Amino acid sequence: MSQTWWRGAAIYQVYLRSFADGNGDGAGDLAGLRSRLPYLKELGIDAIWLNPWYPSPMADGGYDVADYRDIEPVFGTLGEAERFIEEAHELDIKVIIDVVPNHSSTESEWFKEALENPAARDRFWFADEPLNDWQSIFGGSAWSQVPDGQWYLHLFAPEQPDLNWANPEVHQEFEDVLRFWFERGVDGVRIDSAALLIKSDTAYEDLDEVHDVYRRWREVADEYGERVLIGEVWLPDQERFARYLRPDELHTAFNFDFLSCAWDPRDLRRSIDLTLSTHTPVGAPPTWVLSNHDVTRPVTRYGRADSTFAHGGRLHGTPSDLELGYRRARAAALLAMALPGSVYVYQGEELGLPEVEDLPNEVRQDPMYARSGGENPGRDGCRIPLPWSGEEPPFGFGTGTPWLPQPEGWRKLTAEAQRTDLGSMLNLYRSGLAIRRERLGDGTLTWLPLGEEVLAFTRDSGLTSVTNLGADPVPLPAGEVVLASGPIEDGLLPSDTTAWLV
Ligand code: NOJ
Repeated sequence: MSQTWWRGAAIYQVYLRSFADGNGDGAGDLAGLRSRLPYLKELGIDAIWLNPWYPSPMADGGYDVADYRDIEPVFGTLGEAERFIEEAHELDIKVIIDVVPNHSSTESEWFKEALENPAARDRFWFADEPLNDWQSIFGGSAWSQVPDGQWYLHLFAPEQPDLNWANPEVHQEFEDVLRFWFERGVDGVRIDSAALLIKSDTAYEDLDEVHDVYRRWREVADEYGERVLIGEVWLPDQERFARYLRPDELHTAFNFDFLSCAWDPRDLRRSIDLTLSTHTPVGAPPTWVLSNHDVTRPVTRYGRADSTFAHGGRLHGTPSDLELGYRRARAAALLAMALPGSVYVYQGEELGLPEVEDLPNEVRQDPMYARSGGENPGRDGCRIPLPWSGEEPPFGFGTGTPWLPQPEGWRKLTAEAQRTDLGSMLNLYRSGLAIRRERLGDGTLTWLPLGEEVLAFTRDSGLTSVTNLGADPVPLPAGEVVLASGPIEDGLLPSDTTAWLV
């Protein structure tokens, strides 16, 4: 793969705890992931991004990192992580890990030291009283008190104390952490909450000094050659967003504008055009994201009357026509894969899993649920352990009871069941990714004027992608259909369907 593999890569997101369980304790782990590498190879992806795999009390699914230089024992050992990186590389699959510079864990050595010794508190935001009335992104106050009466800031859960980036030790620590993992062969880093690091008395989002941090990280990454920095940057202002992607900062960032769009031709077209026009001036490739471990699964989202995504209540309890959502999710998958840049696939997306919305409240683990007083169902519904095979739970996930219950009815959604079904979502993803590897990825597009409700464009390789978002079938342009998300009759592309032609 070339030096700039990341510009057009298909990146598969592994939420380790829910991917595959190798030791029977009900939680996914590195042994499970390693045993499923052939599945990922066959799927046709270029890289794996893993959510945090470090020792963690799991107050926020691992985004409360206690120690960056080891692996959470539930997931395995550092030695296993090293073997996993080697094995992935042998299959020509790159490995991207997650770092969380905005906050730490109350179980980290630094925080424990700070609790014991008030003179060692400068790595965090401690104060005699809350400095402002900020609310935690998970609900409730962003300030919590320690036993001696001082308060500390946590933009997320109380177990996730925010780090103080005005302290040079914090800078040094993260540069060392990057080196620690680059030296172990990781090919890239996904940066959590990347725009939140720097705080003033009154603001914490997207302050200008944050760019100094990433300029320095870029220098570190460049020392190691082909390493990629990927930002989790949720910013409505695309001009501000693009500043993170200047040539001496991050390489790419997740496209949440596209992810949050309604299944609507105008909204999607607006988002695609905006994405292309904001990335071009900084020379960064766009990314196309339909789902991740924080958002409602597309099959459920696209089956709703309001198919946008917003964090708040996640439209929980709003009816969804799952058959319609499934058809649209297939069309969306081919649309996303055809667009210029890199594409992300969140585990289970390739199986067409719906959001599990009827989890019993007592099994919910996401702090969003408890911190919002139950108002927000949280993100557990998109983190259900994967169904691999068999007729009933745990569907080949492992031998133990999965940490979140799987729906009884997932028999037809297992990887095994879909493998031999040519019309399955899994086979659509496989075929799409295979064609994408040859003909799509990085580059440019040219729109074709096929009507307001049709998203049609031709890519540099000559492949044309047509998505019909209108109610009526539309005639396809000339060419041979090489893949379609649904049946095509008499040269007509039905509603909510994408076709690729050459
Ligand atoms: C974004 C991560 O994707 C999410 O899962 C996490 O809860 C927050 N950042 C806080 O780390």
